[in-house]
Amino acid sequence: MDRPRGILFFVIIAGLAMLLAYGVSGRRASEPVGDAGSARSVAAPRAVLGAGGCATAGCHAAPIEGHLPWESAYTVWATHDRHTRAYEVLREPLAQQIITLLSARDPSHSLSPAHENKSCLGCHTTVQGARASEGVSCESCHGPAGDWLVAHTLPGWQTRGNSLGMVDLADPYICATQCGQCHIGAPPAADGALYEVSHDMIAAGHPRLVFNLRSFKQGEPPHWRDRFAAGDGGLDVLDEVVLGRLGALDAYLAKIEFQAARAMKTGAGDQAGVWPEFTAFDCYGCHRQAIAQIDHAQIDHIPVDRSATATRPLGRLRLEPMRWALTEELLPEDAARTLAAFRTDVEATWWQPPRPEAIEACRQAVKTAQYLASDRLKTIPDNQLARLALESLNVANWDEVVIGAKALNALTDRLATHEDVTEIRQRLAAVRTMLEFPEGEVGGRKVRFDSPHDYDPAAVRLELEAIVRAIESRDR
Ligand code: HEC
Ligand code: HEC
Ligand code: HEC
Ligand code: HEC
Repeated sequence: MDRPRGILFFVIIAGLAMLLAYGVSGRRASEPVGDAGSARSVAAPRAVLGAGGCATAGCHAAPIEGHLPWESAYTVWATHDRHTRAYEVLREPLAQQIITLLSARDPSHSLSPAHENKSCLGCHTTVQGARASEGVSCESCHGPAGDWLVAHTLPGWQTRGNSLGMVDLADPYICATQCGQCHIGAPPAADGALYEVSHDMIAAGHPRLVFNLRSFKQGEPPHWRDRFAAGDGGLDVLDEVVLGRLGALDAYLAKIEFQAARAMKTGAGDQAGVWPEFTAFDCYGCHRQAIAQIDHAQIDHIPVDRSATATRPLGRLRLEPMRWALTEELLPEDAARTLAAFRTDVEATWWQPPRPEAIEACRQAVKTAQYLASDRLKTIPDNQLARLALESLNVANWDEVVIGAKALNALTDRLATHEDVTEIRQRLAAVRTMLEFPEGEVGGRKVRFDSPHDYDPAAVRLELEAIVRAIESRDR
């Protein structure tokens, strides 16, 4: 099997041993898994109408210049948003490569091309059929409009708490779970659409899914008003960070709940027993390149460094740190305890699928405690928050640093309303460069690979420390 060129991962013997021991190579993760576990909802799918329904000039298709965001939402999306390309990319060489490599894993199964493949269309399109080329359009985020298109134009319409299925994206927790369907993964939808990027797909070249609500919203050409930066109704950037993190954790838990239930199900053909799905775990637990470079002597003087977890013996896996970093720290004690117990338990017996009830208990704990978490954080003086974020990070772990840097970025955004933050921004940009992935080439086209090059935790630590000190000294 050809490997994607330029990928820098060094897979350790332990990873290969696991592969042999647990027979992971035989699965066909790109195959439809429709009935192998419970779908997200048993309700009949709501009608999806396509972006055209939103596009009249009096509604959302006004020119961008001189109009409010809501008036030009369609125009912004149609002219600037990457989501419009989501279907087209399925015809590009990288997509073909993914299908070719997945097929090579199991030649007895020939897979349909990406732009017709059930395993790809769920996340890369909103409407199936002739209008699939719209890519990811309004209703993937705002919810199928069949039941509310007319109602939402009438006086007295309430976005919040309505039962017609418009998604309340102004709530960061809900927004994170909605984006998370595709940017984290999710169980199959009621209409059978699939939302899973497996390790096999990543190994075949699919980008690793990383997601963080605030920075991904900032990565979008906005067709909305940033109500968090604007402080609408007492909202704060912190609400977006905290509730966004917790919503993303919920989305991740929903995904592994489905994967675990599927793995335990008997009679589910060759999908049965597929655990661990490697994407639930820390990539660098097996792909050791980044971790092997760490000189622990250099960072051992750092207080509250949990680097012990990075030097964990081989064969112990951590649950995906990008999803867990800065979550337990945010939650009230009892919820944090529920999560920590679950995490410790799963990591100690990672080769067994976790019990769905245990996952469900975590989801409930997170959901119930979300507002307590953001309220609690607001009682902490601003100049202590940055330190708190840094101290709860394991700097040896690339994923955690990504999340930490984004949290510091959000704190800097807050500070920027009343301070000059030029120097802090420069340092944040330096950290970003240190965390970057290398670019490679597939079929003459640039592709981002999934391992940071030359990741140097000690240097990153120094830079983060300087940022925290700068925030501490400014914000009093
Ligand atoms: C869980 C949702 C999901 C599924 C399922 C999925 N993708 Fe993706 N795909 C994404 C997301 C999200 C991105 C963008 C990742 C990023 O940049 O953060 C992406 C990016 C890509 C890209 C890179 C696009 C670019 O601009 O470089 C290709 C190619 C691709 N996917 C192909 C596929 C193929 C082929 C399949 C089916 C085998 C598939 N995807 C299944 C969510 C998904
Ligand atoms: C990738 C997800 C996504 C897609 C696709 C998308 N939106 Fe949005 N939309 C959002 C988010 C996020 C918000 C902001 C919610 C908030 O903070 O209030 C938003 C807000 C809006 C708002 C309210 C603006 C405001 O200032 O309050 C309108 C109207 C809107 N979108 C219409 C559309 C239309 C029409 C389309 C399709 C042409 C579309 N959206 C596509 C995610 C999306
Ligand atoms: C239906 C699936 C789906 C949903 C829901 C969705 N996205 Fe995406 N998103 C994608 C896919 C697929 C891509 C890759 C498109 C491409 O590469 O051309 C993408 C790309 C992006 C990118 C560009 C990433 C990059 O590497 O350049 C951003 C930013 C983004 N999405 C943010 C969001 C946010 C914020 C939300 C929620 C408000 C959201 N998305 C909801 C599927 C989705
Ligand atoms: C339990 C161990 C384990 C975990 C966790 C794991 N991988 Fe892998 N990975 C492997 C093994 C073993 C291979 C080689 C066999 C294969 O291609 O599946 C591999 C192959 C790959 C490849 C193809 C590289 C090549 O040279 O063949 C990529 C890319 C990759 N993994 C990315 C990731 C990412 C991203 C994550 C985290 C989301 C991750 N892996 C998590 C064990 C793991």
